[in-house]
Amino acid sequence: MAYIDYNPDVFKDKIILLPCDDPEWSNFTKFFAQNFEAFGLKKLISTSYAYESKNVNMPYQVSLFEEQAPHFDPDINKIRGKIFTLDHDSNQNGVIDIEDLEWQYLEGDGDFRSDEVKKLRDEADIIITNPPFSLFREFLAWIVEADKQFTIIGNMNAITYKEVFPLLKSNKMWLGNRFNRRVNGKNMTFGVPDNYPMTGTEVEIGKDGRKYIAVAGTGWFTNIEHGRRHQPLQLMTMADNIKYSKHKEVKGQEYKKYDNYNAIEVPFTDSIPSDYNGVMGVPISFLDKHCLEQFEIVGLLNSSDEQLAGIPPIREYDDFKEIKQDGTYTKSSGRKTRGNPVISGKSSKGNYYINPKTKECVYSTYARVLIKKRGV
Ligand SMILES: C[S@@+](CC[C@H](N)C(=O)[O-])C[C@H]1O[C@@H](n2cnc3c(N)ncnc32)[C@H](O)[C@@H]1O
Repeated sequence: MAYIDYNPDVFKDKIILLPCDDPEWSNFTKFFAQNFEAFGLKKLISTSYAYESKNVNMPYQVSLFEEQAPHFDPDINKIRGKIFTLDHDSNQNGVIDIEDLEWQYLEGDGDFRSDEVKKLRDEADIIITNPPFSLFREFLAWIVEADKQFTIIGNMNAITYKEVFPLLKSNKMWLGNRFNRRVNGKNMTFGVPDNYPMTGTEVEIGKDGRKYIAVAGTGWFTNIEHGRRHQPLQLMTMADNIKYSKHKEVKGQEYKKYDNYNAIEVPFTDSIPSDYNGVMGVPISFLDKHCLEQFEIVGLLNSSDEQLAGIPPIREYDDFKEIKQDGTYTKSSGRKTRGNPVISGKSSKGNYYINPKTKECVYSTYARVLIKKRGV
C-alpha cells in the first residue's frame, strides 16, 4: 500500500473504522484484521448494513461466521446492522488477528447516517471503505464534517461533482495511487458475495474460489499522504511537443486557445508543455498524476457547474443554437456551453453551436481540469 511505503507508521496506534462494509465476506476487514499487528493498529471497527435495508436483489445468505456465534438471532439478523471489533487477543493464542474479531448487533440497521455509526466515526482516526456510489457525496460530506483521515473508493465521475472538486482543488483531498489504472491487465477488483449474479464480462472466480468483479473508472479518494503525488511529471517544452509528440492531435499543430476562457487546450496529460506559464485545460485523468509541487489546480471546466471554473469566462454563446452533424437544430441554445471548454470552429463529430446571424461555429470539448505551473 502506497500510504505505508510513504509513512510506515501511518496506521500505528490508530482506530480504523470500516463503515458500509460487509465484514462477513468483504476483504477490507480481513485485510486489516490480518495486518493488525504489522500495522500496529489500536483498534479495528467495521460495520455492516442490514440486509433488509439494502436496495439489492441478492438472495439473503447468512455466513457460517454469523450463524455459529452464540448470539446469532435469526429474527433480527436481517434487520439490524452489525459491528465487528478487534482490539485484543480474545482467543489468547498470542497474536491479534482475524480469529479475534468479535461482533454484535447494532441498535439500528447500520446506516452510516445513524447516530450510533456517527459515534463510531467520531471515535475513529481513519475511515476506509467502498461506500455505495449512489451516496458518495453524502458519505464524503459525512467524513469531512468530522475532519477525519480517510481513504474511500469512488468513481472517476465523482471528481467533477461540485461537492468533490473543491476539495481536490484546495488540497484537502487527492487521488490515491493508481486511480483508474489497470493492474496486471485488470481494473480495480472487488470481492463480492457468493450469491452475486454471474452476469457481465467482469465477473470471475478468483484462485481462492471466490467471486470477484472488476470495475472500470474507480479509485481511491484520500487525504492520507503518499509518495506519487510528490513525483513531478517529466514533460517536454511546447516546441518539442509540437515537433516530437506521439499524438497526431499535437504533433505539427498549434496548441489551441479556448474561445471562452483564457487558457489553452491540452488534450493529453503527457502533452502538457513544461514551459507554458498560463492556465492550461488538461484531461480529468491528469489528477491521477498531479504533483502538488509542480502544478496548482485552478478550476474545472465541466458543464455541471460553471462556478467551478476558477477563472471568469471571457465569452458566452446564449444567442447561438445547437446543431447536429446533419445540419438540423436541437431545441437547445448555446447557453448549454456555460462552464464548458469551448473551441472555435465546427466539431468533426457530435453537436456544435452556430450563431444564426454570423454563421460562426463553436463546440464544447471534454471536461477539463484547469492547471497552472507553480511559482510563475
Ligand atoms: C460498494 S459496497 C462495498 C462493500 C465492501 N466494503 C467491499 O468493498 O467489499 C457498499 C456497501 O454499503 C452498503 N450500504 C448502502 N447504503 C448504506 C447506508 N446508507 N449506510 C451504510 N451502508 C450502506 C451496501 O449495502 C454495501 O454493502
